[in-house]
Formats: sequence, C-alpha cells, structure tokens
Amino acid sequence: MNQVMETILHRRSIRRFEPRQIEEDALQQILQAGLYAPSAGGRQGVLFVVSQDREVNERLGRIKRANSHPHMATATSYVSREQPSIADDPMLANAFYDAPTVITLFAPKNFLFAAEDCAVAAENMMLAADTLGIGSCYIGQGWPAFADPYGQEILRRWGICTDYYAVMQLLLGYPREQDRHPTPKPRKEGRVLRV
Ligand SMILES: Cc1cc2nc3c(=O)[nH]c(=O)nc-3n(C[C@H](O)[C@H](O)[C@H](O)COP(=O)(O)O)c2cc1C
Repeated sequence: MNQVMETILHRRSIRRFEPRQIEEDALQQILQAGLYAPSAGGRQGVLFVVSQDREVNERLGRIKRANSHPHMATATSYVSREQPSIADDPMLANAFYDAPTVITLFAPKNFLFAAEDCAVAAENMMLAADTLGIGSCYIGQGWPAFADPYGQEILRRWGICTDYYAVMQLLLGYPREQDRHPTPKPRKEGRVLRV
C-alpha cells in the first residue's frame, strides 16, 4: 500500500492530548497542507487562524461547549468509546478537549462553497498531521465558540473582518501516550453503488 493510502486508513480523531505544544516545523507543514488544498474556483478564500494560547483556547472551547447541543450518545449510538466526544460524555466541559493548538478556519459569509473549502483543507491538514505523529480532530460549526462577548472580543483582537465567519476548528496535539491509537468503526455496508 502506498503511503497516502496508509495515512488515510490510519488517521483517527484524537480527543486526548499531551499538554506539550507541537513542534513549530510540524505546524508549518500542516499549514502548508491546508494552503495547498483545492478551493472552489481556485479562490483560496479560507483563513487559517492559529491559536496556541491555552487560556484563549480553553475559554473558546467552553463557550463552544455551552452553545452546542449535540444529539447525545446512547448505548447503540455513540461517537467514540475510546476517545469520547462531547456527545458521549456530558462531563466534558471543553469542546476543544484541551488541545494545545486550535486552528479556526474562517471563510467569507457570502461564499457558497465556504464549508466545502474549509472541509477539504482540514482533511489535507489532518492527513499531514497523522504522518507527523500529531493527532487531530475536526470540530464542526466553528461560530458558536465566538457567540458571546468574550468570543466577539477575540475576533476583534485577531482582526477578523465581519464579512468572515468561523466555519470549523481543527484541533492539533500529540496523542496522549497512555491511550492506544483508536480503532475505526466497521464501515457500513451498501454505501457504494456501481451504476
Ligand atoms: C463535519 C464534521 C464535524 C465534526 N464535528 C465534531 C465535533 O464537533 N466534535 C468532535 O469531537 N468530533 C467531531 N467530528 C469528528 C467525528 O466525530 C469523527 O470523524 C467520527 O466519529 C469518525 O471517527 P474518526 O475520525 O476517528 O474516523 C466531526 C467530523 C466531521 C467530518
């Protein structure tokens, strides 16, 4: 199997991180993977805002948690048993799981392909992270993290123009050493139709 396929099959969402920060060189490579992602019309409209400020990340993660209403997991429907998500564990107070690096992807509000552009960039970045031994997690719906006066102040501090919105967050950090790499759920049958 070639290395790209191996990486695609190996990548898992990581929600338990070591507190130590990721290496700057690795961060630069992950950002480059995002910058080289496809974008609708080649417009390259996505902004990648990197926060390694623990206090800011924690406060935004708590706001996101407070403003998220995930469909809570049940015994048969759950996100991850090995690395529980906020839908699995009501006790988790931080929707960013204490990740040391949080990258918010912003895109223009009036752009039809904003979400797709961010999603393909994020996947490139998650695969790059995996090859570098860095865990990642995609956090959908980025805007609730800024939905209070503190979040609004952070947007102003970061100089984000009001024409842009936070599509999603990408969490990065070294996977916690005592945890095994998560196993994927079995793939559901019947999802490929040869017509
Ligand atoms: C659009 C999208 C939104 C997601 N949002 C969240 C989220 O808010 N919180 C979270 O913990 N995981 C989130 N995830 C990660 C998924 O839960 C994860 O990809 C899924 O459970 C499959 O696990 P795997 O990534 O390890 O294969 C999201 C993934 C996608 C693609």
